[in-house]
Amino acid sequence: MDKTESVGRPFTAAVITLSDKGYAGEREDKSGPLLKEMLTEAGYVVEELILLPDGEEMLQRELIRLADERQVNVVFTTGGTGFSERDVTPEATLAVCDRMAMGIADAIRQYSLSITGRAMLSRAASGIRKKTLIVNLPGSPKAVKESLEYILPHLGHGLDVLRGTSGDCGGQSPQTHQG
Ligand code: MTE
Repeated sequence: MDKTESVGRPFTAAVITLSDKGYAGEREDKSGPLLKEMLTEAGYVVEELILLPDGEEMLQRELIRLADERQVNVVFTTGGTGFSERDVTPEATLAVCDRMAMGIADAIRQYSLSITGRAMLSRAASGIRKKTLIVNLPGSPKAVKESLEYILPHLGHGLDVLRGTSGDCGGQSPQTHQG
């Protein structure tokens, strides 16, 4: 995988898995560790790997803590973006964001639709709280891998702008992976 094209120090990240079954110990969380592995390989420093039940309250609290206290550059969530009653990850995300960054969620959905029509069933959102980008990904390891592979080459520039280490959009954009 492409290394992150950051200016200066590596980006810090946190990963949150939303899963009632995972939280109850009834299912092994494979998506969180996969995210961590892929991010580490791409040069990110993953500071926290968190497992939460589905639902808004705990997720909102963790997102606020990670953005305001830990000040990580990016938080990835996995799970809770579908249609079940407990799938409220996008609502919790947008509730704590100051600004939307839906281009990332749109790009993930657009690319994912070339793989499976079911990508339209992900309600994933993305936004910014203070200097932290929050990106929702669907819950399955397959969806995590497909989504992350597509967005990672482009994320570094946005994260640099967000933390103020680059304001220049004139550089060469990495080749877009067409699968
Ligand atoms: N996106 C990609 N790239 N690959 C997938 O296999 N699965 C879809 C969709 N997005 C999928 C995907 C399916 S089947 C569902 S139900 C939704 O994500 C929501 O998943 P979640 O509820 O686990 O977040």
